[in-house]
Amino acid sequence: MNNMKKIHLLFVCLGNICRSPMAEFVMRDLIAKAQLSDKISTASCGTSGWHDGEDMHTGTKRILQEQGIDTQGFVSSRLPENALLQYDYIAVMDDNNLRDVERRLGRNSQRIFKLTDFCEDFDFVPDPWYTGNFEECFEIIYLCCENWLSLIKKENNC
Ligand code: 4NP
Repeated sequence: MNNMKKIHLLFVCLGNICRSPMAEFVMRDLIAKAQLSDKISTASCGTSGWHDGEDMHTGTKRILQEQGIDTQGFVSSRLPENALLQYDYIAVMDDNNLRDVERRLGRNSQRIFKLTDFCEDFDFVPDPWYTGNFEECFEIIYLCCENWLSLIKKENNC
């Protein structure tokens, strides 16, 4: 293992109960399986703060549990003003999230981007709060996280 500096990833959606917690826990699981938990951390938050203090949506929890992914210890929170000090990269779920995050933190395309930038077939992660489709959401998030982690591993020789 090389001596890379720990990388802190933040996933952001609107409510921080459906998509971004799913991404946080999927990526954390992939990182653990790659034995990189001491090198890469994951967290998530929402642009709205509407669900601050709540657990993740039952639909998100169910699909994570079906996949054997841990769901414990989650508490919904709002995007902090100093997120760029705490996190190296911020991956958002759709264009509205991107606009809202950029409004609060400023534009920074090297560090703030859409999660779907890591796959060719999707332009955003549809919101299951409105679609009810947590399976579709999981598939897109899983694919993007796998691709992003591969890239991080390549860039850091780990
Ligand atoms: P999320 O989904 O942004 O993926 O967590 C939503 C959750 C809650 C609401 C909207 C979207 N809401 O209107 O409360």
